[in-house]
Amino acid sequence: MTARWWQIGVIYQIYPRSFQDTNGDGTGDLKGIERRLDYLANLGIDTIWISPIYPSPMADFGYDVADYCGIDSRFGTLADFDDLLVQAHARGLKVLLDFVPNHTSDRHPWFAESRSSRANLKRDWYIWHDPAPDGGPPNNWISDFGGSAWEWDEATGQYYYHAFLKEQADLNWRNPAVRTAMYDVMRFWFDRGVDGFRIDVLWHMVKAAHFPDNPPNPDYQPAMGEMHRVLQLHSTDQPEVHGIAGDMRAIADSYGAAGRGERVLIGEIYLPVDRLVHYYGRERAGVHLPFNFQLIDASWDARSLAKLIADYEAALPPGAWPNWVLGNHDRSRVASKRGQAQGRVAAMLLLTLRGTPTLYYGDELGLTDGAIAAADVQDPRGLRQHELALGRDPVRTPMPWDGSENAGFTTGRPWLPLNADWPTRNVAGMTEQPHSILMLYRRLLSVRRAHPALTIGEFALLGAEDDVLVYARRHDAERLIVALNLARRPHRLRLPDWATTCQPLLSTVAGTAPTGAGSLLLRADEGVILKPA
Ligand code: GLC
Repeated sequence: MTARWWQIGVIYQIYPRSFQDTNGDGTGDLKGIERRLDYLANLGIDTIWISPIYPSPMADFGYDVADYCGIDSRFGTLADFDDLLVQAHARGLKVLLDFVPNHTSDRHPWFAESRSSRANLKRDWYIWHDPAPDGGPPNNWISDFGGSAWEWDEATGQYYYHAFLKEQADLNWRNPAVRTAMYDVMRFWFDRGVDGFRIDVLWHMVKAAHFPDNPPNPDYQPAMGEMHRVLQLHSTDQPEVHGIAGDMRAIADSYGAAGRGERVLIGEIYLPVDRLVHYYGRERAGVHLPFNFQLIDASWDARSLAKLIADYEAALPPGAWPNWVLGNHDRSRVASKRGQAQGRVAAMLLLTLRGTPTLYYGDELGLTDGAIAAADVQDPRGLRQHELALGRDPVRTPMPWDGSENAGFTTGRPWLPLNADWPTRNVAGMTEQPHSILMLYRRLLSVRRAHPALTIGEFALLGAEDDVLVYARRHDAERLIVALNLARRPHRLRLPDWATTCQPLLSTVAGTAPTGAGSLLLRADEGVILKPA
């Protein structure tokens, strides 16, 4: 197999507001990302994905786009972006942008036209509907942020649909003119040299044609958030979405075919695996990588993880390339969910499973969910349902770079407070500590790069017992074993016959693991990569 860059490379997600500020306004910017490219290259990642940087009223911090072909002045200019691209490419780093095709900001000129009158040519670019006979919303669909997903427009006497905030109006992808306009947006960035897109809420893009009510969710508990009151049967994952993914893929592929460099598409899709894998495409190719978020919520025990991995591998269609994610800007951080010691084991898991890994900024420092006082809450999801603690601010706190004021993130007032442990948990400090999680990440990334078995090798499960998950990776003559102790007690591991004499290549725990004849003592919370002697 010829490995493609997006198969072997490791992706690193940057939440640009929180990465590095250079102009003192307290929010990160493109010049800040550029300043930190050497850090990223030295860390050993291959690709950066930058959450939205387009002009936006920031109702959902950039996921409400008002102009798809520009840069928000808070982040910089188009020229800054072009510079960043040149500088990233000069270091061998690929750059992915976040494409938000499901909805625009309500301030997007298209929506302003669409809502101006029922006769406007762009009326049908969005999803407008008459009220139900009682004058209420057309159906029972609920916004992912709570409340009805329909907003009444007094001036034109209809409702419009928004899967998220009312400031994020859903585009009508059944309209060919919308498709053409949005495909042009992709070409605009591809032509500038962008290496690919992460596609926001891909599974939301098409809704059932006649807008039937969604069925009630029998398992609904109020603590889940109001969106879970109904099952999103008719409002998401409609068959027609695959035609759109196919069109997008054809556009991306046309660049590679023209010798302009292969471009990649990654879909954000939260669905059970059997439906997720359809996004690889069936009759036509779909996205290269439908994000696989299963590790985020997985039960952290060997048997559950083994089953999850085996089921995922088995569900992949022929030729489909796997991928794994531990965290993102919407979900609780891995160090908070699993703790610091298991956070290190999780890092080893992520970087040794078969498939493209995606890291979330700050996870390489073991950043935890920050404490956000009620007065500092920014996230609309947190503000709307504050009693449920659904806010995402805790996972978006500024990157701590060093021990200087505001951790070197900004000379101004950070848009979100830094995590309290920043004086010790920061890049500069942890670079000096040989056993910090940051240095573990660096070593893992370098071991991964040096061993094709870990990037393109086959995967074989060897065992999942007593809190210990063991698997092998193999490419040509190279065979490695990964053993992960998911518990806080030591465990003596019997090694397979072909590996009775093994040397640890890397451990998540300081010091050398004691090996005996045919066995290895895994210490508490220890993950190791072993190489048969
Ligand atoms: C995606 C983004 C999330 C955003 C939502 C609406 O799920 O990851 O941050 O709020 O889409 O665009």
